[in-house]
Amino acid sequence: DSARETFPLTVNGTTHHLTVDPRTTVLDALREHLGLTGAKKGCDHGQCGACTVLLDGRRVNSCLILAISQQDALITTVEGLGDDLHPVQREFLEHDAYQCGYCTPGQVCSAVGMLDEVAQGWPSAVTRTGEPALDRAEVRERMSGNLCRCGAYPNIVDAILGAAR
Ligand code: FES
Ligand code: FES
Repeated sequence: DSARETFPLTVNGTTHHLTVDPRTTVLDALREHLGLTGAKKGCDHGQCGACTVLLDGRRVNSCLILAISQQDALITTVEGLGDDLHPVQREFLEHDAYQCGYCTPGQVCSAVGMLDEVAQGWPSAVTRTGEPALDRAEVRERMSGNLCRCGAYPNIVDAILGAAR
């Protein structure tokens, strides 16, 4: 039994003070201690993307990051994307971009982070150079860290391209 540690964690604009096992991941802190169950635990090993959240605006697999190491970070979960539906969420609805929905919060957070990367001119993920032209192949490559067991990929790509427009 390891000692517990108390430290701050700022999520969706609110700073919480957690007293937890220092080995607690951001994902477990969110789900088990803060009641934010939007981020999902698929693999718990960085392979599925279901746990994706934004850390200082960058998408990350929250199952791979210790909460205690993020005391100064601003964490945004799917619950904190906005008071109303975020444009990416609206496009997911519009394009029927989910079936069971388990991967959806991760897909949405990842898409929000990805569109920001594109806006900032991160090079093409397909060619590794040059301006990113956001076509289907580019979206699939950039979203390749987010798996969907239901195979809703075509509609997910449609939704993201819709949000990009
Ligand atoms: Fe984190 Fe699968 S639960 S990547
Ligand atoms: Fe079921 Fe993606 S909608 S896993």
